Amino acid sequence: MTHRIAVIPGDGIGKEVMPEGVRALKAAAERFGIDLELEPFGFASCDYYAEHGQMLPDDWFEILEKFDAIFYGAVGWPETVPDHISLWGSLLQLRRRFDQYINLRPCRLLPGIQSPLAGRKPGDIDFYVVRENTEGEYSSVGGKMFEGTEREIVIQETVMTRHGTDRVLKFAYELAQSRPRKKLTSATKSNGIAITMPWWDERVSEMSGHYPDVTVDQFHIDILTANFVMHPDWFDVVVASNLFGDILSDLGPACTGTIGVAPSANINPEGTFPSLFEPVHGSAPDIAGKGIANPIGQIWSAAMMLEHLGYQEAAGAIVAAFEEVLSEGDVTLLTPDVGGHGTTESLGLAIAERIMR
Ligand code: NAI
Ligand code: MG
Repeated sequence: MTHRIAVIPGDGIGKEVMPEGVRALKAAAERFGIDLELEPFGFASCDYYAEHGQMLPDDWFEILEKFDAIFYGAVGWPETVPDHISLWGSLLQLRRRFDQYINLRPCRLLPGIQSPLAGRKPGDIDFYVVRENTEGEYSSVGGKMFEGTEREIVIQETVMTRHGTDRVLKFAYELAQSRPRKKLTSATKSNGIAITMPWWDERVSEMSGHYPDVTVDQFHIDILTANFVMHPDWFDVVVASNLFGDILSDLGPACTGTIGVAPSANINPEGTFPSLFEPVHGSAPDIAGKGIANPIGQIWSAAMMLEHLGYQEAAGAIVAAFEEVLSEGDVTLLTPDVGGHGTTESLGLAIAERIMR
């Protein structure tokens, strides 16, 4: 069975880390006998915009729909294209039209990386944030009236549907069930947001009936953010609405050190449309062109993609490879953000070589 992967490097360091992501992917495919067909695309980048006046070709949906997954770098070059245009014109279109309703981010402290939380070592932080990615607080229901007058009002409604909520909860319960701790934490705010959030809690509790072996708890979002910092070891899988998940999915990886290693997946679990895998970081204009960006975020995203396609073992081999290179701590290989003086390529090559072993 051939898996077709669309490869979109995007802008800035996206173009530098993507070759290393592809190198890792190819190494894993070769070792585990996975048939991958990679097709590169230049659109969804500010270079494409400069040439065409838009971020995506008109038929992008028809082009990408046929792929089994999308492997993305990073988009954005604020010097030439404003961020709201580059992001809304590309990545956000893909996430919406392909109904990638799960945003999944592992938060794991890796060997050789200093957590900003004092005294934490690998093993202490190892959880997932599951964010609802299509509805909730980020709705287009609302409007403005009496603009520019004393009576000016703005309204933006939160939209939570049973369909939208239950499907993200189902994904989160199943993820929790697949992990040794089998623990799910729900982010709520049912004390203050007294209509939607008590309803969210009800859906969480109703769904728990289908997963008797998963332990569930819940925290209000304010104390939950504090607990991410104070007690990151409490968490296994954390599920949240779009807004709360947005906050937690930046805070979680931040607790594990450099942004350069964090991966993410935008998933359409039913496979009706392709899912999209990308590092958490952006195009990093400040270091772009220097060849020193950490490629691990991109490489770890490749592992998530292989896992999504059903290749657990290959995904595990990629993760084991970068963990090994990080724990050995050879400063000639590691990039500056993790204390080395190596390059994107030296680190990528070292990881690919371990994957093949
Ligand atoms: P950024 O993530 O690009 O950079 C933030 C800081 O982290 C910078 O100092 C950068 O040098 C460092 N950094 C990021 N990735 C790194 C890596 N792999 N290795 C070492 N250091 C790394 O975020 P920023 O500066 O806010 O945004 C820059 C551009 O990226 C903007 O156009 C923004 O819209 C876009 N962006 C795109 C995202 C995406 O494609 N999903 C996500 C975030 C931002
Ligand atoms: Mg965010």
